[in-house]
Amino acid sequence: MAAIRVASSSFTIRASASPSSSFSSSYSNFSTSVFTKFEFGLSWRGKRMAHSITRAALGLTEPKQIDPPKIAFSAKEIDLVEWKGDILAVGVTEKDMERDENSAFKNVILQKLDLHLGGLLSEASSEEDFTGKAGQSTVLRLPGVGSKRVGLIGLGAASARTAYRSLGESVAAAAKSSRASNVAITLASSEGIAAELKPSTASAIATGAILGTFDDNRFKSESKKPALQSIDILGLGIGPEIEKKLKYAEDVCSGIILGKELVNAPANVLTPGVLAEEATRIASDHSDVFTVKILDEEQCKELKMGSFLAVGAASCNPPHFIHLCYKPPGGTVRTKLALVGKGLTFDCGGYNIKTGPGSMIELMKFDMGGSAAVLGAAKSLGKIKPDGVEVHFIVAACENMISGTGMRPGDILTASNGKTIEVNNTDAEGRLTLADALVYACNQGAEKIVDLATLTGACIVALGPSIAGVFTPSDDLAEEMSRASENSGEKLWRLPLEETYWESMKSGVADMVNTGGRQGGSITAALFLKQFVDEKVQWMHIDMAGPVWNDKKKSATGFGVSTLVEWVVKNSS
Ligand code: BES
Ligand code: MN
Ligand code: ZN
Repeated sequence: MAAIRVASSSFTIRASASPSSSFSSSYSNFSTSVFTKFEFGLSWRGKRMAHSITRAALGLTEPKQIDPPKIAFSAKEIDLVEWKGDILAVGVTEKDMERDENSAFKNVILQKLDLHLGGLLSEASSEEDFTGKAGQSTVLRLPGVGSKRVGLIGLGAASARTAYRSLGESVAAAAKSSRASNVAITLASSEGIAAELKPSTASAIATGAILGTFDDNRFKSESKKPALQSIDILGLGIGPEIEKKLKYAEDVCSGIILGKELVNAPANVLTPGVLAEEATRIASDHSDVFTVKILDEEQCKELKMGSFLAVGAASCNPPHFIHLCYKPPGGTVRTKLALVGKGLTFDCGGYNIKTGPGSMIELMKFDMGGSAAVLGAAKSLGKIKPDGVEVHFIVAACENMISGTGMRPGDILTASNGKTIEVNNTDAEGRLTLADALVYACNQGAEKIVDLATLTGACIVALGPSIAGVFTPSDDLAEEMSRASENSGEKLWRLPLEETYWESMKSGVADMVNTGGRQGGSITAALFLKQFVDEKVQWMHIDMAGPVWNDKKKSATGFGVSTLVEWVVKNSS
């Protein structure tokens, strides 16, 4: 009984020298303390007791503990030709590649390098038809100079943040293929960049380099450690401003990497319990600013979360309701925010099972992408420590499975705000979990709530694989998030909350059904969520069903983390 109380009360963990790693390491390091106590708290129907609560045994897979890439960045002002290391990479636009009548480079940096290399650069770029187009790159091996290799990397016609990020990615790829450990990056026309934009240019390059270096090899039996150890950024200035921006980029990337790892982890490894453990780890790594509360099934029942609990009812892996709370180090709170993430560690559809081609059942481990964005953002914010904001990170984590204890089509559920829901489709489960999570978020006194969810296939049909749908009654919040996403480079598109479509969500026996027709499926889903949000709260729903996953790379994107961090930081003092 006492152990249940440990789980139910809010606690701050003060860990000394806790390993600041991502969740790959939590398996080996977190088997004691808080969570062993949970095992007593979770005595839910005998069959679940047989399992270790957080460690998933199915398939005998244990993720390898691989530390995320650690690259030391330094902003330097030194002459390019003096720099010593493995690769000197120069970002060039198409304009930078223009030649004069003697076919010599017009650009002074390229001119100087070429002179130093006895015309090799000019020769090689002509031979390889390198014109500076985005995506082009050419790397020359140069014995006898300070740098062992010189690379030209195309930025395209314009130089934008995305181009600088790609530059970083290309450098990471070049470093990978030549096993380079020390790299310098510069721009052929860095002097053309306004002084106030130089630090953010450097941070965009750094972001690309970090994320490009990261490979999720935790589930491969063999993998190589990345060789890249240091990157010098030349020609973009030095001093506290650029250092600050570089650190910010690293902090955001650590959250993005966590987000990717959480989504990539399969459902036999990442159960709701393991997700809760990960949230607890974030709190213990940054115990100066975080407290964490994990509610087990009994405690959710006390809070009358009938909608959430019904979704998890068929699974042997019990549901966990996760609530992380960030309080600024200064103590003064001017704004209270909440970030709510859909946390379905697997969604088979339930009795409305996902069958047939296109249902993507084999990818439904990614159905906790919203929670990955929220926890990734929490990890970053724990490092950035913005002032003036209190942030609640909320995830109703569970698994949508099939068994004799599961909800049936036609069942009527009662959510924690008292509203009743007739389940006309068990595969529209995300909104059922979010309903209780949103009610809980409102009860925390949040003034602005943003939820993120891989909610509808319809949103992928509408916006394709790389754009998320945004729904909000608040033009102000829409504007805030749009600005945050411009900085992060993540694509959002606002869709309407068309109230007349609520018609299709009416039930004959309950307050509402959980799905309307096929038409406007993302809109009716958003209208459903709206039923669970206080009208005085500014609320936004982001449907990230498309951008959660990169089909070409067969990997998670970490979508949402950087926009959320950006938005929270903008809401701080
Ligand atoms: N997790 C899915 C949404 C989804 C589908 C995300 C495909 C990414 C790719 C969600 O729980 C779901 O099943 N939604 C249904 C809703 C329908 C039953 C109204 C859908 O989109 O088919
Ligand atoms: Mn579903
Ligand atoms: Zn789902």
